Amino acid sequence: MSADAWWKNGIVYQIYPRSFQDSDGDGIGDLRGIRKRLDYLVELGVDAVWISPIYPSPMADFGYDISDYCNIDPRFGTLEDFDALAAECKARGLKLVLDFVPNHTSDQHPWFVQSRASRASPKRDWYLWRDPAPGGGPPNNWLSNFGGPAWTFDEASGQYYCHSFLKEQPDLNWRNREVREAMYEVLRFWLRRGVDGFRIDVLYHLIKDDQFRDNPPNPSFQPGQDPSHRLLALYTTDRPEMQDIVFEMRRVVDAFSSEASARVLIGELYLPLERLMAYYGLTSEGLLQGVQLPFNFQLIAAPWHAAEIDRIVRSYEAALPHGAAPNWVLGNHDKPRIASRVGQERARLAAMLLLTLRGTPTLYYGDEIGLTDVPIPPDEVQDPFEKNEPGKGLGRDPQRTPMQWSRAHMAGFTDGTPWLRLGGDWGMRNVEAQLADPASMLQLYRKLIALRRKEPALHEGTHEQLHAGDDVLAYARASGTRRLIVLLNFSTSDTRIAAELLPREVVVLASTHPERTGTVAGELVLQPLEGVIVAQ
Ligand code: GLC
Ligand code: MG
Repeated sequence: MSADAWWKNGIVYQIYPRSFQDSDGDGIGDLRGIRKRLDYLVELGVDAVWISPIYPSPMADFGYDISDYCNIDPRFGTLEDFDALAAECKARGLKLVLDFVPNHTSDQHPWFVQSRASRASPKRDWYLWRDPAPGGGPPNNWLSNFGGPAWTFDEASGQYYCHSFLKEQPDLNWRNREVREAMYEVLRFWLRRGVDGFRIDVLYHLIKDDQFRDNPPNPSFQPGQDPSHRLLALYTTDRPEMQDIVFEMRRVVDAFSSEASARVLIGELYLPLERLMAYYGLTSEGLLQGVQLPFNFQLIAAPWHAAEIDRIVRSYEAALPHGAAPNWVLGNHDKPRIASRVGQERARLAAMLLLTLRGTPTLYYGDEIGLTDVPIPPDEVQDPFEKNEPGKGLGRDPQRTPMQWSRAHMAGFTDGTPWLRLGGDWGMRNVEAQLADPASMLQLYRKLIALRRKEPALHEGTHEQLHAGDDVLAYARASGTRRLIVLLNFSTSDTRIAAELLPREVVVLASTHPERTGTVAGELVLQPLEGVIVAQ
């Protein structure tokens, strides 16, 4: 096994820590809770765990507003709890990936408190302060991603500060050398404690235009869409200066990589394909020195049709720089869940897709039991995005509800009252019930993961897209002489697979339809919304 193997060939599992497992009855998931569930993750078969932020935070954005980068929020536990969790992950061979939030701090972070204190503060330049526009008002037209302007006026010092998200999340000034060094020290702090990598929050936002030019209007904006999309984020995201920062971050983590295990950077990047590719950091010598895994979010946004997904897979494969590791993901804590977007039956097909494509899959906690978005009544809303832009369907609480473990009190998530309500289906849809049901989503995930681990064709093989008609997504994965074919029927009718595509006799290694097993001789007819993996 090469040092890179775990993040290239393995599977990442995202934990939203507030919602995974509570251990102390306060209704909020915590590190000791995660520890209790590590065996579940090992049995599921994943290789790495990425935990969303666990650092001290006023929780204006549930941990994405950090007031101390080098500690643990008491709601989640202590540094000792963290070390114990890291040690237990290591003992089980699980890699541990933390969330790194470099674009902004909390407004309660001592750096911002000092920066705000006066224009002469040595930390003033650590954030983006500007005078009001000549006629008064914000310095330019930039918008916050969570609604309203990206500028908040500070009465005391008479200037505005920039925040790409909440006003409680002031943006750091990444042009300032001291800021960069301080943030790289944060990475080193956790690397020394043994973490295997970082998911970098809104990486493409770090640098803003040095002339603070207005963003242009977005010509394709439709009323009713997320209001922050009214403008194109031309001068606020994906600036050319990002390249150097990405190289620097990579050097910081590489210094901690060893023969035995590489440390990895996973970038959160909502960008068009060719811009996404830039974050691999291809150098003129042909080396890749950027983030190893620029998150590929295309399956999250995709209209769920075979032809569309076929186009996405082909264009993504074609766009990858030589030697770059692909990756795929169906959901995260910011996006509606896959089972709600496409329905339970199609979510089974999606699972097979995710776990058979070439590239590192990331699973969002709960998707493996088919958790759906849970409607949250207005008086229970927690997400600040929903509070700022109510009723527009932008809120993220529905996809952050507690993990459903069993039929015990509160689905086994907490002894107390959960911070967000459980899904109404928890009595039936939970880990315990699904372990007992061979036809469950969880058993499908376990089977597909086990197959992916066992078959080199699936975890490190080549990928070849095939043609099997408009409604069937088809591809071959091969390693050595072993060639597997994946056939996903997106239609709701029986679909015959053309004889040219398959050898006369095939072995079905897995199907989304649990009743199908064994060998198929002659023609293969897929059932409605059935996916199969076959070997010749
Ligand atoms: C990222 C996070 C999201 C957070 C935002 C601001 O998009 O995934 O949850 O609100 O950044 O930090
Ligand atoms: Mg707790």
